[in-house]
Amino acid sequence: MLHSKLPSEHCSNPLSWLSQLPKVELHLHLEGSLEPQMLFDLAVRNHIKLPYENVSAVKKAFQFTKLQDFLDIYYQAAKVLVTEQDFYDLTWAYLLKCKEQNVYHVEPFFDPQTHTERGIAFSTVITGITSALEDAEKQLGISSELIMCFLRHLSEEEAFATLTLAEPYLDKIKAVGLDSSEKGHPPEKFSRVFAKARQLGLLTVAHAGEEGPAEYIWTAINDLKVARVDHGVNAIHDPKLIDYLKESQMPLTVCPLSNTKLKVFADMSEHTILDLLKLGVCVTVNSDDPSYFGGYMTENFEALATSLNMNQDQARKLVENSIEASFCNDHRKQQLFALLHRYV
Ligand code: HPA
Ligand code: ZN
Repeated sequence: MLHSKLPSEHCSNPLSWLSQLPKVELHLHLEGSLEPQMLFDLAVRNHIKLPYENVSAVKKAFQFTKLQDFLDIYYQAAKVLVTEQDFYDLTWAYLLKCKEQNVYHVEPFFDPQTHTERGIAFSTVITGITSALEDAEKQLGISSELIMCFLRHLSEEEAFATLTLAEPYLDKIKAVGLDSSEKGHPPEKFSRVFAKARQLGLLTVAHAGEEGPAEYIWTAINDLKVARVDHGVNAIHDPKLIDYLKESQMPLTVCPLSNTKLKVFADMSEHTILDLLKLGVCVTVNSDDPSYFGGYMTENFEALATSLNMNQDQARKLVENSIEASFCNDHRKQQLFALLHRYV
């Protein structure tokens, strides 16, 4: 669907143009899109007892002071995902939200170890997810590339075992990533696993510089040979790294609402994403774990407009960066640029 109206014509809600703006999402954990209502529905379906009375009790529990507070709840909640249908439903609900918010291309993460550790087969997880992604391409016009993350609090050996499980499905996976508890688990812990993944033809990305130091961004780049850095906001403390990011146009997948919910920044007015944009760093906007952090793509853009006075040129540049940083082929990139430039 194309949008002929200019942003200024969407006047009833001054921010509604951000919903209409064609968007691309490069940093989204499927397990982090599990909404409280679906959490309850799946708990009933799979006969799992939750430590919450109702949806509002779940929402009340979503108060975090650091990454680990969130991860403890996120891993607990993911236990309701059991069958292929559960993984399909989770992914499909996210994709419907993308359709509603004019997100045309997505590169979601999934965490197989969160499920295989509980005895769920790798095939159950990946088949449910990829069936929904394939249906979305056909029925919703949303293209995608899937990224498999390793949990960095687990061992190198466990990451290697996960890569082995993935080998029959390499045609469905574009890249490997690295997530979970950052501090004390530097990227180089996984240098050999990432080297093997690259040998298998996979691209690489890694969370670095969310809570961890700028040094972790350097090692993600130099040791893991990433094509993008996930988060990366702590780069601002290292002028040499900022110069490198500018020169190389290494993309950062920044997640504004996540960063304020996890107290990486005390308040959205202190977020540095637009400072990085002005410096010429290839920053992008993403939702990370939208059901936990208070919003999907549109709400993340709206937060930047409200708290940082982001203007239309900046919003357009942020989407252009996402298209450029995506793993789509040139033909799809041209389609996405055409959609964007027809809009703004
Ligand atoms: N950081 C690290 N690991 C994660 C995150 C995050 O924001 N979300 C899900 N796993
Ligand atoms: Zn993340």
